[in-house]
Amino acid sequence: MQYLRTATALLVATVVVVVSANKRDLCADGSTDDNNNWYCQNVTAITYTGVGGSGSYNRVTSMDSNGGGCSSVAKGYSGTLSPLDEEVSLHFRGPLTLKKFAVYTPGGSLGSKRREAHVRRHVHGHGYGHQQVAREAEAAVGDMVTAVINGVAETWVNEWSGQSATPAPVAGSPSSGSLVPPANLPTPSSTSSSATASSSSTSSGSGNTAPSSGGWGRMAFYNASANSSEGLVFLNHNGGTGSGVFDYTYGNSLSYASSDGQNGAASPQILSDCTLPSSSEVVIMSSRKCGANNGACGYYRPGTVAHHGFAGPSKAFIFEFNMPSTGQTAASIYDPVDMPAIWMLNAQIPRTLQYGEAACSCWTSGCGEFDIFEVLAPGDKRAKSTLHGNIAGRDSDFFGRPEGTPIQVATVLHNDNIHIKILDREFNFGADLDAETVADILGTTMVQTNTVSLFALSG
Ligand SMILES: *[C@@H]1O[C@H](CO)[C@@H](O)[C@H](O)[C@H]1NC(C)=O
Ligand SMILES: *[C@@H]1O[C@H](CO)[C@@H](O)[C@H](O)[C@H]1NC(C)=O
Ligand SMILES: *[C@@H]1O[C@H](CO)[C@@H](O)[C@H](O)[C@H]1NC(C)=O
Repeated sequence: MQYLRTATALLVATVVVVVSANKRDLCADGSTDDNNNWYCQNVTAITYTGVGGSGSYNRVTSMDSNGGGCSSVAKGYSGTLSPLDEEVSLHFRGPLTLKKFAVYTPGGSLGSKRREAHVRRHVHGHGYGHQQVAREAEAAVGDMVTAVINGVAETWVNEWSGQSATPAPVAGSPSSGSLVPPANLPTPSSTSSSATASSSSTSSGSGNTAPSSGGWGRMAFYNASANSSEGLVFLNHNGGTGSGVFDYTYGNSLSYASSDGQNGAASPQILSDCTLPSSSEVVIMSSRKCGANNGACGYYRPGTVAHHGFAGPSKAFIFEFNMPSTGQTAASIYDPVDMPAIWMLNAQIPRTLQYGEAACSCWTSGCGEFDIFEVLAPGDKRAKSTLHGNIAGRDSDFFGRPEGTPIQVATVLHNDNIHIKILDREFNFGADLDAETVADILGTTMVQTNTVSLFALSG
């Protein structure tokens, strides 16, 4: 799946940068085969390009708890990031300590009211990932531009006018947008002679992936040390204990998780500041319950706890966690001991049947899973990522498993790409993911280096 992109001319801040990028995973630099799991390079960021597509999957429409099986209808999908633009749930398997977690979306906010557009100043030294770059008077890609939208001055990082479905302040889009590649060009846009993700290279390189409005707003947040959470709910698979249902056909449905994550609970609980034991799983979804008659959630298993997932073609999940080893060894290959993981599912999957009969979940027909940080063998020190679905692929480069000090990892879905990046500076989980931080994450993960892998999916 490696291929060569020829030069792309890109006008960036009055400097013409000629790009020639050989987009690839880093397996040519060396690989190891451990029991059919390939491991290539130890990286700090991986970008999957070409994630979305069009197709269909089987949406479950009924589940017979008396052994009659499940029925479904074909559901077509298309568009940026599709089908992972649909609602997704986040899954955590121990041994894992989740210290903080936040979800950001363009225009997202906590609370019922939409966040008002507010003036965002380009202040040097503000925020994580700040790029100290001189701005030209005329807007070029990567520049901060300001416009008055609905009477409010709003500032954001300029980008070309792609097919972003985000609520962009289109009225203010500068004409220089036409100078940059189209959104669907699946190639890293810019690299100067320096391969590292320095601030100067990212400011230009990030232009083609910058968000289309100012910052992204925090729509869900969990802080274990503060015993606080907003906009999200902790679930697990203990239906029949306090909440949800159990039957002999499908087993336990989703339930609210007890504060230690080990049992069911009658109502939402905040996950305590704890290490989830090996094999146990906690699921995070939105605090919004599915409406009556299934509503926008679609069909779900009767009696299950049913909450919305996190929807949209642009969304960022930031995790602070570690995965301490228990030293256990597996009794069998079906025994996932000491194999921690963080992954994302189309939220319909856990709301019908995450584990069990294939016809009772849209998983087999491709409604989407993305493994973000998954340890594939007991005790292994490496974590890999994988896209499952009708478009699928696994980068064999890996991240080091964080066994001690928690690390902060961003997973950003945007413009048909998924970026995973180990953040190299303290991220404060504030109410906004400012535009420059988003641009930094997107930009630095689009420039291939020996610690950044680019994995092109072919649809
Ligand atoms: C998380 O909680 C700790 C302990 O209460 C607090 O010091 C920290 O500021 C909190 N972080 C955020 C982003 O709220
Ligand atoms: C966390 O907060 C909940 C209420 O939101 C409370 O019931 C629980 O005791 C708290 N846990 C700790 C460890 O303070
Ligand atoms: C991967 O790299 C990180 C950072 O250099 C290091 O801490 C970790 O031990 C490495 N892990 C493996 C399995 O090579």
